[in-house]
Amino acid sequence: MKNRTLGQSSLSVAEIGLGCMGMSEFYGPSDDQQSLATLTRALDLGVNFFDSADTYGLGHNERLLGQFLKQGGVGRRRQVVVATKFGIVREAGKYERRIDNSPAYVRAACEASLQRLGVDEIDLYYCHRRQADVPIEDTVGAMSDLVHAGKVRQIGLSEISMTTLQRASKIHPIAAVQSEYSLWSREPENGLLAACAELGTTFVAYSPLGRAFLTGTVRSDSLAENDFRQFNPRFQGDAEIANQALVEKLRQFAQTRDVTNAQIALAWLLNKHPHVVPIPGTRQIRYLEQNVAASAITLTSEELATLDALFLPEHVTGTRYPEAGMVGVERD
Ligand SMILES: NC(=O)c1ccc[n+]([C@@H]2O[C@H](COP(=O)([O-])OP(=O)(O)OC[C@H]3O[C@@H](n4cnc5c(N)ncnc54)[C@H](OP(=O)(O)O)[C@@H]3O)[C@@H](O)[C@H]2O)c1
Repeated sequence: MKNRTLGQSSLSVAEIGLGCMGMSEFYGPSDDQQSLATLTRALDLGVNFFDSADTYGLGHNERLLGQFLKQGGVGRRRQVVVATKFGIVREAGKYERRIDNSPAYVRAACEASLQRLGVDEIDLYYCHRRQADVPIEDTVGAMSDLVHAGKVRQIGLSEISMTTLQRASKIHPIAAVQSEYSLWSREPENGLLAACAELGTTFVAYSPLGRAFLTGTVRSDSLAENDFRQFNPRFQGDAEIANQALVEKLRQFAQTRDVTNAQIALAWLLNKHPHVVPIPGTRQIRYLEQNVAASAITLTSEELATLDALFLPEHVTGTRYPEAGMVGVERD
């Protein structure tokens, strides 16, 4: 597995990371033993960059990662780059959320994450969503204090605008910006990716497989009752049918290269941008292995242009979140 440097830090991460969210919530039932086996296999394959958040399973995801780290002892802890996030406050069983970016909350949330993860220091600590009425300078100031206190190594921001990134970078170097970015979610191409390149910030692409839709392996009628995708506008009704037509074209393209849709979706990100690190989520070793193999795929500029054109934003039907999910998502 090739590596990329995280921002301007000394941290080197696998160019394809592992999203751990589905191991706790949002994509139907999960099994801890299967998730732990997937994490173990990931590390064997050189995938050292694990993405979590305090809100995933309301602490379950961080505890699971903590269990994985503990099982492997000090050696394993040194191998893994742990990323987690604060800022989304939810009640058990509810998707609706409020956002808290206040300095007091940042400090308390960090202590709680350190405890659940069972580590002394979080490698990459993100603000998950912005609270509009708290100046970003105050939030990043509090995060910077955590770095100086040795509780956090690097700072990241998720779903923020270019302006917020520029303001935040004046307070403390921002190692990573994490936002949704994939063939069918292209908003970061409107300036945020360029701003990251200019500031030496890594762009971490979440949901790079379009929450599995791009892989062509999920349909809304086969989703579990508690699967969040049932409420995602792109997975519903006529939108789903229209979007499936795009995925079929992606399948035909992937066939010409004898690889899978998922592998093309990841290779598209890696070949387009040297500062992007996708973090596909999976609970399954077979998917993990397939995703890791995408690191070896080279796409020509003609192939990139073909894929760019196929998934132009105007060709995609439906918004990427239901309205409740847009709380705290900044748009420039
Ligand atoms: N910052 C944020 O606000 C934010 C928001 C969402 C997600 N994230 C992070 O980003 C990570 C990745 O995003 P995501 O999990 O939402 O979406 P994703 O990576 O686009 O898709 C994950 C889904 O794709 C399936 N999958 C994975 N590899 C596959 C393959 N090769 N073939 C077929 N299906 C495959 C997974 O199935 P299985 O689970 O069954 O393996 C899962 O259902 C998350 O885990 C989380 O850490 C961050």
